[in-house]
Amino acid sequence: MGQAVGGAGVPWARVKGVVVAGNDRLRLGVIGVGVMGSNHARVLSDMAGVELVGVADPDAKQRAFVADTVGCAAVADAGALLRGGVDAAIIAAPTHLHHDIALQCIKAGVHVLVEKPIASTIEESRAIVAAARRAGVTLMVGHVERFNPAVQSIKRAIKDQDILSIAITRVGPFPPRMSNVGVVIDLGVHDIDLIRWFTESEIVDIQPQMSSAVAEREDIALLQFRTASGVLAHINTNWLTPFKARNIHVATRDKYLIADLLTLQVTECFGFQSDGSYSMRHLSVGYAEPLRSELVAFVDAVKSGERPAVTGEEAVASLEIAIRCLDARATAAVVTRKGPRRVAG
Ligand SMILES: NC(=O)c1ccc[n+]([C@@H]2O[C@H](COP(=O)([O-])OP(=O)(O)OC[C@H]3O[C@@H](n4cnc5c(N)ncnc54)[C@H](O)[C@@H]3O)[C@@H](O)[C@H]2O)c1
Repeated sequence: MGQAVGGAGVPWARVKGVVVAGNDRLRLGVIGVGVMGSNHARVLSDMAGVELVGVADPDAKQRAFVADTVGCAAVADAGALLRGGVDAAIIAAPTHLHHDIALQCIKAGVHVLVEKPIASTIEESRAIVAAARRAGVTLMVGHVERFNPAVQSIKRAIKDQDILSIAITRVGPFPPRMSNVGVVIDLGVHDIDLIRWFTESEIVDIQPQMSSAVAEREDIALLQFRTASGVLAHINTNWLTPFKARNIHVATRDKYLIADLLTLQVTECFGFQSDGSYSMRHLSVGYAEPLRSELVAFVDAVKSGERPAVTGEEAVASLEIAIRCLDARATAAVVTRKGPRRVAG
């Protein structure tokens, strides 16, 4: 069983601000250890320079399971984790709780990595950013796709290129448990962040098309954007595809890049000739678990005090675009086709 916490039995307590472990390892906790949080806990449990001191989750069975697996303490809520003394926390509770839990951690002077999307509303996400700034703690947001090696290979390949268009496909079957958000907030926000990151420009025009074929909220979305720098971008996302696919195509004036984020293959077409011929090459893509790279980046930012790889402000900007897409749908004709999906064949 994970260690219980209570009264003098807090298993990782600091003694007068001195880390009990007697070294400079960053003391971390994970708040919410469902699908995503248990992965954070797994990665942190064997990461150099950190000590995973505990996990917090109101689900007693789940927290005990994760704590036993990774070898740390288990507590019922964020308050107990904070009382035990942590330097930083990963917040992977359901999105609607991010705001309250993040403010609780920030108030305690604890650095936070908040899972994406940063919060449910713009107001809440801005409040998290403002609180972190006031408290002087590091706030990073878990836009983990930036750490996908194939995505990083594209980012390197388009450096100093004149980007013309970006097309991203992120499709798959319905998640096993439906959360209370639709596909735009759940999946589309990853790609809105990538478009803003690739282009280093803000999205100024949006043309969203959405439909609820099976779920209550949108489960198919075709989102078109134009950035201030003039890049046209397109996201195709849904929960109605029987297999998972994640692809990115980027056209620049000199190159055409094709990336498969699952197989980590990135191909570059270049050397376009007037007769229509061109050259192709595979770009080298290293292998690193994106979540591990993200957590290393967070720990580095906390230790150095430098700007984190994904700032709260960037996460708010991406969430704002996703919410604008949903608001645009509210004012347009809603396409809703309810009922069981026809099986092909
Ligand atoms: N970066 C990514 O690619 C990615 C992928 C999946 C989920 N997420 C995000 O991670 C978050 C969690 O998603 P999930 O799929 O792991 O959900 P989940 O339902 O599997 O896990 C959530 C966990 O939080 C716990 N919880 C509920 N209330 C809590 C509270 N007050 N304090 C602490 N824990 C609490 C639940 O008991 C549960 O174990 C969401 O914000 C989601 O958007 C990000």
